[in-house]
Amino acid sequence: IHNVVFEKSSKASYLVAKEIADLIREKNKKGETCVLGLATGSSPIRVYDELVKMHKNEGLSFKNVVTFNLDEYYPMNAESIHSYHYFMNEHLFNHIDIPKDQINIPNGTIDQDEIASYCKAYEEKIAKYGGLDFQLLGIGRTGHIGFNEPGSHYNSITRSITLDQLTREDAAPSFLGIENVPKKAITMGVGTVFSAKRIVLLAWGHKKASVLKETIEGEISPQIPATYLQEHNNTTFVLDTEAASLLT
Ligand code: F6R
Repeated sequence: IHNVVFEKSSKASYLVAKEIADLIREKNKKGETCVLGLATGSSPIRVYDELVKMHKNEGLSFKNVVTFNLDEYYPMNAESIHSYHYFMNEHLFNHIDIPKDQINIPNGTIDQDEIASYCKAYEEKIAKYGGLDFQLLGIGRTGHIGFNEPGSHYNSITRSITLDQLTREDAAPSFLGIENVPKKAITMGVGTVFSAKRIVLLAWGHKKASVLKETIEGEISPQIPATYLQEHNNTTFVLDTEAASLLT
């Protein structure tokens, strides 16, 4: 892994958005589709704001972009304000020119007995586009990427998982109580993420400092699934000074 540390997450977010925009334009020039893996949560919000600005001010077009989101709670209606569908529409998709049929987010309303085949199809769709050109990630305090909680295998693929207690606690405030946080989610696997040609993980604030130390300096272990990224050949961790504060 290669780390870059910024004093301000705003500057860092701008540079990440710029990298994504450059990739979209480069692919567009060649007449190619740009396949983006996207994350939700607080970490990428500013990156999406910058991309929306680039669309409005510089005419950055997303017509050649296909997106695959990492995860969605299960069960979860797309219309719920708690859904990752809602989050993505609010922060990005409603403000850019991406054709709706080029957006992919795991479906949190799929029948229990159809989850396995649904996940297999999600995985195959990514492969059909030639894999992810760029994957944006955040990191949870459990060391999860996507919702690959501790215990996730390095070659896991899109599947249904049970959320870790700590992850549910961290989500509790926005759900107005832990009892309202879903117990499950559908997530791309570690292997799905790992197959991306380029990975950028964002982490801001002191709350992420200890898990980042373990992720970057610790032994590779399923107990901290993000440690698997140590072996990816094109991953950058973009951190602010607080998140990087425990690194040696
Ligand atoms: C979200 C996701 C999660 C978050 C992580 C950090 O799609 O896959 O792994 O990236 O939980 O969340 P924030 O950014 O809210 O700290």
